[in-house]
Amino acid sequence: LFASETEFLKGVVAMDGLPPADRLEVCFAGRSNVGKSSLINAVTGRKALARTSNTPGRTQEINYFTVSPELFLVDVPGYGYANAPVAVVQKWQRLLKNYLQGRVTLRRAFVLIDARHGVKPVDDEIMSLLDSAAVTFQVILTKADKVKEVDRTKVLTQVRGALTKHPAAYPELLVTSSEKGWGIAHLRALI
Ligand code: GTP
Ligand code: MG
Repeated sequence: LFASETEFLKGVVAMDGLPPADRLEVCFAGRSNVGKSSLINAVTGRKALARTSNTPGRTQEINYFTVSPELFLVDVPGYGYANAPVAVVQKWQRLLKNYLQGRVTLRRAFVLIDARHGVKPVDDEIMSLLDSAAVTFQVILTKADKVKEVDRTKVLTQVRGALTKHPAAYPELLVTSSEKGWGIAHLRALI
């Protein structure tokens, strides 16, 4: 479904630049460098649809991808540490929060958590924002190829514990690796 059809629509830098809210959308949120853009590429089966980088803070706009007349995929800037000037980072963060709270057609947010690190205070803050905006979110562990099985189990337990505080959290966790293709078919089916 996705590979041939998905195209980049636009990069948005302010709320009034959002495309018309004429279809559902799902977004990929998470700390800088967690693997949001890589996951969009994996799920669409395209190598370089969304730009990725080793440097945290690569994605600085809200990027819209058109999947079909019914669906947008949305790649957003990361939160937390970014390799960019403070004033610039604050501007994206405000845009990101306004977007997550104010986009009526946002049907589900995927909140990406690094499988090595688990839920950090900044993740908790974003999840609380989604709770108060009543946006259902689902956690996806990323970079699962970088952890040993025992460590992954510990992180899963930590994440499950953290989610109990969040009424908007969908209980099923996904474990993925964009690098190895793990969990990608499942995520695609879910979307
Ligand atoms: P920002 O846009 O800066 O917030 O980052 P992002 O969350 O979009 O992360 P991005 O997809 O750019 O990936 C960050 C780095 O992690 C890149 O060097 C990717 O190659 C790497 N990466 C992403 N996913 C995986 C994965 O599943 N496994 C491994 N080993 N590396 C990954
Ligand atoms: Mg990115």
